[in-house]
Amino acid sequence: MKPSLLIYNIGMLATACGNSAHGGKAQGEIQIIENAYVAVEENKIVAVGEGEVPADLRCDGCKTIDANNKLVTAGLVDAHTHLVFGGWREHELALKLHGVPYLDILAQGGGILSTVCSTRKATEDELFDKTAKALDTMLSLGTTTCEAKSGYGLDFENELKQLNVVKRLQESQPVELVSTFMAAHALPEEYKDDREGYLSLIIDKMLPYVAEHKLADFCDVFCETGVFTAEESRRILTAAQKHGLGAKIHADEIDPIGGSVLAGEIGAVSAEHLIVCPDEGIASMAKGGTIACLLPATSFYLGATFAPARKMVEAGVPVAVASDFNPGSTPNLSLQLAMNIACYRYRLTPEEVLTAATLNAAAAIGKADQIGTVEVGKQADLLIWDADNLNFIFYRYGNNLVQTVIKNGKVVK
Ligand code: NIG
Ligand code: FE
Repeated sequence: MKPSLLIYNIGMLATACGNSAHGGKAQGEIQIIENAYVAVEENKIVAVGEGEVPADLRCDGCKTIDANNKLVTAGLVDAHTHLVFGGWREHELALKLHGVPYLDILAQGGGILSTVCSTRKATEDELFDKTAKALDTMLSLGTTTCEAKSGYGLDFENELKQLNVVKRLQESQPVELVSTFMAAHALPEEYKDDREGYLSLIIDKMLPYVAEHKLADFCDVFCETGVFTAEESRRILTAAQKHGLGAKIHADEIDPIGGSVLAGEIGAVSAEHLIVCPDEGIASMAKGGTIACLLPATSFYLGATFAPARKMVEAGVPVAVASDFNPGSTPNLSLQLAMNIACYRYRLTPEEVLTAATLNAAAAIGKADQIGTVEVGKQADLLIWDADNLNFIFYRYGNNLVQTVIKNGKVVK
């Protein structure tokens, strides 16, 4: 067998292992190979080993990369972003610094609703160009796969506009995208006196269309005080499941109103944020096989407390870490930064966070059998870091330590 790409002289290869999410002790049990090589054929990893590269993997004419004794990991998987939106919201920073709470800004028609206005005003091409630029930055920061939520259109036409942008980007740039339909991100102004009307628009009109046209793989709801209740969230998410979409839920971000308990009860693939997740929510997620998708950069930016990540890991709930990139609560594209904060503030170990941002994140978007680890048979999504070992990338922060990005077997950065 002659590979199309051979990476040799790897100082340390660090990877989670397997095709499903890991919680408990397994979250920190990764494989480390020193003096390693990885061989790739087309877009798949065909060999991973230690020491001398075997003769049958060497070839004239195939591309080789000398990793110069540096660290190699799987490409990062950002399992939670609000990627496509018009405008920015820098004016809200001043309000936040004056102590105006996130939910008050939303209740006054700002926050998510102000991004809804700018997203509705933007053309599909404008959104496409802006998002392409963001993805280019993410790729150079090591994100090779990214989930993207709609939820700034809040009507048929504009939710589809966001989903279409993701579909077009999927075909035109290297970062692999997974779409989540999130019309239940806020109640649009035109429905402010008609909650039932908006729920029916989502459940009876938008969801069937999105599922039929395969515009999304997941459905998400913002289950929060003043946004959607746990019962409304249940109605939307169980309807989505009937249409074949996986359920995700923004739960326990500000107030614990039952989102994490619901997540476990309905077998949601993931629950997100979970900053104030109660013990019964953790127990429910453990029982329901729900992944906790934690967003430490959001806690950092909002000056909030941090999700009880250690408790979750100990309860056997697999923890994923994502950026939550969006114009309001975290205008940050770097999953690397979120990983650093996860380490410092959740006190998760580098090994646990690596699993969180690769294998567990891949599982949170239904792709753990294809990506998230450096193993034979997986897609060749690899990073070469400007670091000699795994600890180094958690010790240094605020810089981009990714040197080379390989997506689907091709060097893309
Ligand atoms: O995950 N909390 C809800 N949604 C986003 C924020 C969206 C916004 O503020 O525009 C989040 O943090
Ligand atoms: Fe979010």
